[in-house]
Amino acid sequence: MSKTIFVLNGPNLNMLGKREPGIYGGKTLADIEADCQKAGADLGLIVDFRQSNHEGMLVDWLHEAGEKAAGVAFNAGAYTHTSVALHDAIRAISPLPVIEVHISNVHAREEFRHKSMIAPAAKGVICGFGPHSYILALHALKTLTQ
Ligand code: DQA
Repeated sequence: MSKTIFVLNGPNLNMLGKREPGIYGGKTLADIEADCQKAGADLGLIVDFRQSNHEGMLVDWLHEAGEKAAGVAFNAGAYTHTSVALHDAIRAISPLPVIEVHISNVHAREEFRHKSMIAPAAKGVICGFGPHSYILALHALKTLTQ
């Protein structure tokens, strides 16, 4: 039976395409979802792709992933750098593998983006490959959940 992977997206990622294209590229979140659905189908994974601008919604979805998913690819956006609640939610669903994902290379940007609250709770971190970061995370989750 195919495993379900949640792909969760945090604040402002609904603005991709219009938002700082020099940093994030020209793809919309719908384009990235389509790429994830295709990669998921190729890998034999069911992709449940969601976005919210609200921290509590992301906490609820992580809890739901703990019940329903085999793993999570998680771009928490700016909450990456601030959210103890998301750190705790990832720990609460342990050992479910959660991969932290970023489109941009956060380490090559402002210093406030160098710190991740998520990374210590995550299985691993993928950043800097543009939208392909999501596809790399799906491949990693396929291997981790085999
Ligand atoms: C981001 C990087 C974060 O620092 C930023 O707040 C985002 C997007 C990325 O995918 O590169 O919203 O997570």
